[in-house]
Amino acid sequence: MKLLAGKVSIVTGAARGIGAAIALKLAEHGSNIVFTYVSDSSAEKAAALASQIEALGVKAKAVKSNAAIFTDCESLVNDTLKEFGAIDVCVNNAGISKDNLLLRMTEEQWDDVMDVNLKSIFNMTKQVIRPMMKAKAGSIINMSSIIGIRGNAGQSSYAASKAGIIGFTKSIAAELGSRNIRCNAIAPGFIETDMTHYLQDGEGAAQFLQKIPLGRFGKAEEIADATLFLASNMSAYITGQVLSACGGLNI
Ligand code: NAI
Repeated sequence: MKLLAGKVSIVTGAARGIGAAIALKLAEHGSNIVFTYVSDSSAEKAAALASQIEALGVKAKAVKSNAAIFTDCESLVNDTLKEFGAIDVCVNNAGISKDNLLLRMTEEQWDDVMDVNLKSIFNMTKQVIRPMMKAKAGSIINMSSIIGIRGNAGQSSYAASKAGIIGFTKSIAAELGSRNIRCNAIAPGFIETDMTHYLQDGEGAAQFLQKIPLGRFGKAEEIADATLFLASNMSAYITGQVLSACGGLNI
């Protein structure tokens, strides 16, 4: 059964990693996909992903758009509405980490992480709620992190941005529930992607694995499954929640 037949979904930061897996998963379930990438060096990957999505029988569009810039998000949403006529699902996935102990962290590092991880969520949500309110339906999914719940030494900016996402998510769920717009967050644990590449081997990785009850790192496809659930009517009575997809790391 296709859970998103005929829907239109936007996924930010989807040229690779979790975002790419989400774009493919939603497309497999019948959604048309508009996804973003930020740097010219990702253009080729983005074009390849768009072809892969179209081969699934839905429309795909790759857009170069910086989620940290308000006007980029405004154009993205306006252009999507012009071309696709609706926005049913918005997955705010774009994110970066610039980890450093606070003693060494620069103001620029802090600001970059806040702009890409947190301001982006404001930028996109502010835009997509207009068409969703008109349609009296919509699902917004924000990519938080287990680090936003637990904190972690050396990751204060990342943790603060991801914790901020949770507060934002719950507030928007409360503001827009009466309009049938749902807003939920996902808190992935340790997922094997380029972002965590440097942590995936060696002694540190072995120690980390011991703390995960399921005994392994997660896969991008597993976060895509959680996203599909929150995007579709399978979660019609769920809003303002944080779905931890972390192999039990948060127990
Ligand atoms: P990744 O680094 O592979 O992918 C992030 C994507 O976001 C990249 O394609 C990048 O180009 C894009 N991006 C960066 N800045 C952007 C901007 N300003 N505008 C638009 N796109 C931008 O990382 P991954 O692992 O796929 O992460 C995806 C999301 O999941 C992020 O929000 C991350 O914080 C979150 N996450 C990842 C975890 C992991 O273990 N990999 C754990 C918890 C959360």
